[in-house]
Amino acid sequence: MDKKKFYITTPIYYPSGKFHIGTAYCTCLTDCIKRYKTLRGYDAYMLTGLDEHGQKIQTVAEKNGLTPQEYVDKMAEDSKALWKRMDIGFDDFIRTTDERHIKSVQKIVEKFLEQGDIYKGEYEGWYCMPCENYFTETQLVDGKCPDCGREVKKMKEESYFFNMKKYEGWLKEFYSENPEFIVPESRKNEIFKNFIDPGLEDLCISRCTFDWGIKFPNDPKHVLYVWLDALTNYITALGYGSDDDSLFKKYWPADLHVVGKEIIRFHGIYWPIFLHALGLELPKKLYAHSWIVMKDGKMSKSVGNVVYPEVLINRYGLDATKYYLLRLMSFAQDSMFTPEDFVERFNADLANDLGNLLNRTIGMINKYFDGEIPTDIKEHTEFDEDLEKCAKETIEKYIEDMDSYHVSNGIQDLWKYIARTNKYIDETAPWVLAKEENKDKLKNVMNHLAESLRRISIMSRPFIPGTSLEIIKQLGIDEKDATWDTVEINNIKPCTKVVSQGKPLFVRLDKEVETEYIRESMKK
Ligand code: MSP
Repeated sequence: MDKKKFYITTPIYYPSGKFHIGTAYCTCLTDCIKRYKTLRGYDAYMLTGLDEHGQKIQTVAEKNGLTPQEYVDKMAEDSKALWKRMDIGFDDFIRTTDERHIKSVQKIVEKFLEQGDIYKGEYEGWYCMPCENYFTETQLVDGKCPDCGREVKKMKEESYFFNMKKYEGWLKEFYSENPEFIVPESRKNEIFKNFIDPGLEDLCISRCTFDWGIKFPNDPKHVLYVWLDALTNYITALGYGSDDDSLFKKYWPADLHVVGKEIIRFHGIYWPIFLHALGLELPKKLYAHSWIVMKDGKMSKSVGNVVYPEVLINRYGLDATKYYLLRLMSFAQDSMFTPEDFVERFNADLANDLGNLLNRTIGMINKYFDGEIPTDIKEHTEFDEDLEKCAKETIEKYIEDMDSYHVSNGIQDLWKYIARTNKYIDETAPWVLAKEENKDKLKNVMNHLAESLRRISIMSRPFIPGTSLEIIKQLGIDEKDATWDTVEINNIKPCTKVVSQGKPLFVRLDKEVETEYIRESMKK
């Protein structure tokens, strides 16, 4: 039977500077959900890429003494290298300067023109240069950009418009039939309150004030305004509008667009309308995640509070970095990064709870059973029962959380089980059983510990894939014996031998030294 497909996307990022942990989080989250779906047997396909057009990119390129094309080429290489370093399993990387994208977007615009969805007019509004976005008077906050807080300029220009009003009724109906299209619900409520309820404004989709963009069909002094160009990446990457649209047929509609909360309005209003106007199916869901914030607000170079993923990865490892970002961010609220918290979590969750559990288990199996995991079990105690009950409940809760993209909660479910397994060691006190030479009881305990770790390896695979595999490697368990369909059963084969010397998964950090290290890196 064919596997069920799952198409998941990140936003395409502006290559206007080096990516920080906020951008890395968004990609990491998407990758984690893809890994979870793969673990669950889906044919999962992940798209990421770059949003390379627009005035801001043109300006940054000039500052760097490069043409826009040279600049974005370099940034595309840099970001691919970062995602590779982060072991991100993307299947395609779309750039809005790709020929495949440009051609398909032009066809889309032609179709809109033919259908009378687009008209020429004059646009006047408050323009935020860094966000490349116009705002109406009422949207401004204290006269400044509502998204980034910077100065805005009154600007007027001849422009093409997309007739959004025409689709307003349809959009409202769509939401009343699909109230869970956007999660969390609070984000949907915001866009209703601010944009849909007051009445949709037509969207300006072209500019004459700069030329780094896709030329408007039959009117080349206009280039496309970035959002129509950007949003369509999710279908052009699959070959929509090209001779080979097999991927489009296979994967569209997207199952999940992961986006940051500040761009949900574009995805929740314009994107459904564009798709509807094209006669295409809508994505199944939009997840608007929140932001990583710092003690002194948003990450910004000028404040000197930017954390780059490479700094954390190079010093603490890839899995520790991924773990921290995914665990930190709650489903619906901004979460604060602090160097202290990073080091504390590393020590408590990774080095102590998980690392020690594996290390102690391997040490005891070596000491009491010559390295062989016992499988001939004769005993069954109330502690076993309780641990097994916890495993069952954890798996149920984990599925519920991961299926609804509550990734941080999924991690917390797992860590409760890790804590429960650690408690099981204290309860059963294997060192006492060894002294009493109670071999049957001791076998039972070791088997339960090894089975717990096998389960932990399976459930941790989407978050910390390297560590997940290291756990079963040290236990001597084959990967094929630690797949999702074995998560609920006992599946350790007779004669399985653990490594003779367990290597610590994570070595405890010195809190003072490491918080200082991270803090210093933020100033560079
Ligand atoms: N180019 C547009 C997206 C077009 S998608 C069709 C864009 N790019 S961006 O580079 O500015 O931002 C991309 C993503 O990074 C957003 O989803 C944004 O929320 C995310 N993040 C940027 N800073 C962030 C944090 N500090 N924390 C979490 N995510 C953050 O918008």
